[in-house]
Amino acid sequence: MEVRLEESADWAGLCAIYQAAFGQLAEASLVQRLRNDGDLILSLTAYGAEPVGHIAFSRLTLHEAPFVKGCGLAPLAVNPANQGRGVGSLLIEEGLKRMTAKGFDLVLVLGEPDYYGRFGFSTALARRFKTLYDGPYLQALALSDTGKEAHGSVTYARAFAELK
Ligand SMILES: CC(C)(COP(=O)(O)OP(=O)(O)OC[C@H]1O[C@@H](n2cnc3c(N)ncnc32)[C@H](O)[C@@H]1OP(=O)(O)O)[C@@H](O)C(=O)NCCC(=O)NCCS
Repeated sequence: MEVRLEESADWAGLCAIYQAAFGQLAEASLVQRLRNDGDLILSLTAYGAEPVGHIAFSRLTLHEAPFVKGCGLAPLAVNPANQGRGVGSLLIEEGLKRMTAKGFDLVLVLGEPDYYGRFGFSTALARRFKTLYDGPYLQALALSDTGKEAHGSVTYARAFAELK
């Protein structure tokens, strides 16, 4: 199993994974909209003999702290046949490593705290921010000291507003 940058040949397989994992194609469409808008910062495929999972990171705007480089982790999916074997963890860990190397300070994610807490995401840190997704599932992870001090209103990339 390797995690590498998404390649165009992966796309049909990734759509099938999103359909199987979420029962809909809205998340795959989100990735395409982010890409078309130029807001997709990192798109990784977990690959065995074929794609088995995918993760995306996109631009966030921090209005009161524009010097903070923030990103949103979404979407993430693993083929149901391959779930529970560490593929999701591999995608998250590799994604966070690469976003840190790119100089990002902060990651926000909307999801299960029991899952994302394993990777250091915190609901307490997320409460420093004001987003459209505020609530018990919003979590934040600082990748730098700058990220630890960040706060204020945050806007997700435009494609999220179109997510049904
Ligand atoms: C969530 C998802 C990406 C995890 O991928 P994965 O490859 O199965 O995850 P891993 O193998 O790395 O981790 C499995 C562990 O996470 C736990 N886990 C998986 N989904 C979870 C959830 N929603 N809430 C809490 N724990 C969860 C499993 O119980 C398992 O626990 P264990 O290690 O104690 O046995 C995958 O289940 C998936 O695609 N789900 C459907 C789409 C989805 O919900 N995406 C995330 C949206 S935020």
